[in-house]
Amino acid sequence: GDNVLYLAHKHGIDLEGACEASLACSTCHVYVSSEYYDKLPEPEEREDDMLDMAPMLQENSRLGCQII
Ligand code: FES
Repeated sequence: GDNVLYLAHKHGIDLEGACEASLACSTCHVYVSSEYYDKLPEPEEREDDMLDMAPMLQENSRLGCQII
């Protein structure tokens, strides 16, 4: 699907996605600029759980494969 992980790869951006969008890793961790962050739906609980394990977590952290 056209999630941020997919789009990054399509545009030659080297974002990891170890579990291929199945919410079993945090390697697709990205920071979303504040102007877009607020437009996204809230992360689901499973995404939050995975984000908690991401290094360098910030207020604007999301998992790239979950941003559609
Ligand atoms: Fe694993 Fe996004 S690629 S959670």
